[in-house]
Amino acid sequence: MKVAITGAAGLFGHGLVAAFSTRHEVFPLTRVEADITNAEAVRAALEGIRPDLVVHSAAIPDIDRCEEDPASALLVNYQGTCNVVDATRRVGAGLVHISTDAVFDGTNVIPYVETDPPAPITVYGRTKLQAEDAVKTLERYWIFRVSVLFGPGKINFVEKGLRKLAAGGEYLVASDQLGCALHTVDAGMKIMEVAEAGKYGLYHLANRGICTRYELARAAAELAGLDPAKVVGVPDAQMKRRAPRLKYAVMKMEALRHAGFAFPRPWQEGLAEYVRTVKL
Ligand SMILES: NC(=O)c1ccc[n+]([C@@H]2O[C@H](COP(=O)([O-])OP(=O)(O)OC[C@H]3O[C@@H](n4cnc5c(N)ncnc54)[C@H](OP(=O)(O)O)[C@@H]3O)[C@@H](O)[C@H]2O)c1
Repeated sequence: MKVAITGAAGLFGHGLVAAFSTRHEVFPLTRVEADITNAEAVRAALEGIRPDLVVHSAAIPDIDRCEEDPASALLVNYQGTCNVVDATRRVGAGLVHISTDAVFDGTNVIPYVETDPPAPITVYGRTKLQAEDAVKTLERYWIFRVSVLFGPGKINFVEKGLRKLAAGGEYLVASDQLGCALHTVDAGMKIMEVAEAGKYGLYHLANRGICTRYELARAAAELAGLDPAKVVGVPDAQMKRRAPRLKYAVMKMEALRHAGFAFPRPWQEGLAEYVRTVKL
């Protein structure tokens, strides 16, 4: 297949390009090739490629930045997705859209399933939910909701912590946010498998198991041979951030199970493989 990937220079973009390149002809799209807020540019890029599949990862994923600048969040996360949807429709391709656990409100006490009603509590979550609704106007779409990502190619939550510890500092992380973690290349491989099978729909996607950000950062420190005691767990409220965070963002992969796909490996295994590649 010819696969065009937006946000290709981003964290997830690197994993998606790496995964899809193993079996398909990949056309990485960065802001330079197609600013997704420019409908004409997106249309021209996709008409030039004529892809069979578009994987849309470009977004503003910074929750605090979205809260501070809701106009930009709406423009990129929602309007940009509308432009990608429109261009995808024109070239007759299928669309994989990357979404987020932030479409939920985090008040659940049992894992969220795909059929649970979304109720975002942040600008980021609201604009990503609007984007999901735009994607659902297509006939052939896949939406994958993911949560904390780590992987090669771009600084991320895990690497940031390792760098702080390696420099002799402490890493303050929330100890009261429970969720899922996901290696970007594992994600890319699973998304490719589902897309190849032509099983459209809405999916939750994570490495197996659940963890707090604190547990994730601590495990990474141990794997890197750094002092895990320097990872300091604090209540999220103490971090004084612009946008609220979800206390509970555990997602159950009901749709994957129902469609007969195996779950990705446990997060500890994905993390171990990733940490081995981080050069400090
Ligand atoms: N990171 C996470 O933990 C996480 C969790 C849940 C969901 N997600 C979702 O995963 C997807 C990828 O996120 P990520 O972590 O890979 O973020 P990222 O590293 O910031 O990558 C996003 C990419 O989108 C590009 N982009 C932003 N505005 C654009 C525009 N107007 N036109 C074209 N490209 C534009 C950025 O390009 P520039 O570098 O030029 O700005 C960047 O390369 C997003 O849909 C996000 O909502 C991420």
